[in-house]
Amino acid sequence: MKIVTIIGARPQIIKAAALSRAIEKHYANEIQEVIVHTGQHYDDNMSQVFFDELGIPCPDYNLHVGSASHGVQTARMTEGIEEILLKEKPDYLVLYGDTNSTLAGAVAAAKIHVPIVHIEAGLRSFNKAMPEEINRIVCDHCSTLLFSPTLAGFDNLKREGFPMDNDGPYTIDNPRVYHCGDIMYDNSLYFAEIAEQKTNILQRLELAGKPFILSTIHRDSNTDQPKRLTAIFDVILKLSEEYPVVLPLHPRTSKLLKINLTAEKQAQIFSSPNIKIIPPVSFLEIIALERHAQLVITDSGGVQKESYFFKKPCIILRPETEWVEIVQTGNAILTDADESRIMQAWKHFKDNPPTVFPEIFGDGHAAEFMLEQMLLTNATN
Ligand code: UD1
Ligand code: UDP
Repeated sequence: MKIVTIIGARPQIIKAAALSRAIEKHYANEIQEVIVHTGQHYDDNMSQVFFDELGIPCPDYNLHVGSASHGVQTARMTEGIEEILLKEKPDYLVLYGDTNSTLAGAVAAAKIHVPIVHIEAGLRSFNKAMPEEINRIVCDHCSTLLFSPTLAGFDNLKREGFPMDNDGPYTIDNPRVYHCGDIMYDNSLYFAEIAEQKTNILQRLELAGKPFILSTIHRDSNTDQPKRLTAIFDVILKLSEEYPVVLPLHPRTSKLLKINLTAEKQAQIFSSPNIKIIPPVSFLEIIALERHAQLVITDSGGVQKESYFFKKPCIILRPETEWVEIVQTGNAILTDADESRIMQAWKHFKDNPPTVFPEIFGDGHAAEFMLEQMLLTNATN
């Protein structure tokens, strides 16, 4: 069986490590994987570092699309992906998550009848102002195999009318939906100990053995609105009076910080000895930070979940989340970019550190399950 995998943005590159690892370990003779990097993320610390560190095979193609508006970026990717699919003629196109790279792959493949496998299917924020919500809905509805990491995702697809007990052959019009666990849980389990041995980020930041807060911010709804970005940094300034705050900054945020915060606020932040603003870190380094932080404050989907994997409380700087289970279990709190809600959540977690983290993301073998199903359905289709 031949699959083409599309990656482009940081989280997709990391997710690809789990699938490629499982192919190499269990299915090297049965599955040929062709990797296409759209080039959506291109800085070394947003892309190359993960290939170097996580053992992901070098992409067979790189479209080098770079940054642009949604329409331009997606159009460039769609054109490039279509050409590759026509040449490679894969049995499946594998798409991860909900970025513009995902959308481009979905549109390109569906129109030329290449069956799509969507990994991370069914997640919904129910907020169509998010570019990602449009991308995930389109991708799910163009897919043939849909792998939902959570029960909530599976239920969303049921509600949207996807068949649940259907027999094959599976097609875009008769898709197969699975609830199978989270490929990122596979990765976090696999890399946790390696991160402990191979990184020294805690020592470099002089945080070994000390309590600290980890924060990441990149969601356009936060970075692009001066009021919200200011509110978030006001809270970070306040929290940094109690604990050091480590902020590996996404390039989007680095750029917009300089535009959307006043010069005075920027000076306050950059002169604070307890706010450690650093460039994006590698996956092993962020795992080390997540494992040792007291608390995580983030608007990232991936970082929210990883804080749960490593049993850390999480404050989510959004009004809603696709990963509803981590909120329902009391281990994360949605605060939006609201200063008083963030401070309340901080107090709550200090007084009541969460201790129970039910296993809701599978058993760490989601990638193997998905590959098995791809092989089975491809053989019977
Ligand atoms: C994208 C995804 C988002 C995902 C995030 C993961 C879409 C619509 N959004 O958001 O779902 O959570 O990736 O990180 O696909 N930039 C650089 N260097 C890079 C990459 C980006 O400087 O290597 C800067 C550019 O100024 C660019 C901006 O970051 O305009 C935003 O990049 P883009 O890929 O468009 O969106 P993200 O915010 O990264
Ligand atoms: N990540 C990383 N280095 C960083 C910040 C995040 O390796 O400096 C990882 C993080 O552990 C997670 C993924 O990138 O696995 C999440 O990506 P991001 O927050 O960019 O996007 P999202 O998950 O919100 O789509």
